[in-house]
Amino acid sequence: MLKTKNLLGLRELEKDDINLILDTAESFKEILKRDIKKVPTLRGKPIVNLFFEPSTRTRTSFELAGKYLSADVVNFSKSASSVAKGETLKDTAITIQSMGVELVVIRHPMPGAPHYLAQNLAIPVINAGDGAHEHPTQALLDIFTIREKKGRIKGLKVAIIGDILHSRVARSNIWGLTKLGAEVVVAGPSTLLPPKIETLGVKAYTDIEKAVKDADVVNVLRIQLERQKKGLFPSLREYAMYFGINSRRLNQAKPDVLIMHPGPMNRGIEISSEVAESPNSTINEQVTNGVAVRMAVLYLLSGGGKIDEKGY
Ligand code: CP
Repeated sequence: MLKTKNLLGLRELEKDDINLILDTAESFKEILKRDIKKVPTLRGKPIVNLFFEPSTRTRTSFELAGKYLSADVVNFSKSASSVAKGETLKDTAITIQSMGVELVVIRHPMPGAPHYLAQNLAIPVINAGDGAHEHPTQALLDIFTIREKKGRIKGLKVAIIGDILHSRVARSNIWGLTKLGAEVVVAGPSTLLPPKIETLGVKAYTDIEKAVKDADVVNVLRIQLERQKKGLFPSLREYAMYFGINSRRLNQAKPDVLIMHPGPMNRGIEISSEVAESPNSTINEQVTNGVAVRMAVLYLLSGGGKIDEKGY
């Protein structure tokens, strides 16, 4: 059983809980390989996905994860709800809880929105990305993918490259990977590195080649065009030239380096198509693993423990 009621971030998630989610996701990944993926584990459990920001991967994989577990999943978007008429986030969530919903997944542009809901609801809350703060299930699926490919996390060098300043994925990965004993380095233009990022236990570089030197994993972040203030770097063309991950820069990393990207990708800006489609790339497997990890999170936050092969 998890020690936590909610999944709000990896900063507050204990190492044992991280490992339990990863181990449980391994069992669910086996279920995903079957012709019929549906198991009765959460039969009839009402779950709502509250998405106040666009999403392809996270929203679809939470929906599929719930459906593969036989939960009753309802999707909610800002534009098609009474939020568009001025209803508050708290009133919306309490309304949903009053209908008998037993778990809420929320993505919101405001950092702390999931924490606010968790304080006001009796049911578990999962953070599916809150502003530039945290994206815990993305980091869990990234860590799951690294562990699956490399057999361990401890002692690996993981380089996170790009727009660290605006990245909830970077923050959650830093918390999770350092708890599990990885060496984490971050790199990008100085304007996209948060001040005092080293206090999170990472080294920071503005020279990409120094950061990727001897790396076991290079996780390339999206340039978040929608969150950029003007002038953080001269142009996308220059960003690609000085900070983009291409085959030449990757020569500095270990030959079996894993290339990761949380998506959606800006091809030709933060990552070249050649690198994204190289044999070292795990980008599509990250997406597959996202379903297994989210099944594990839904199951464990619903009170589940170790599962058997039937999904009970
Ligand atoms: N990685 C990620 O969060 O992607 P989406 O925005 O498509 O969910």
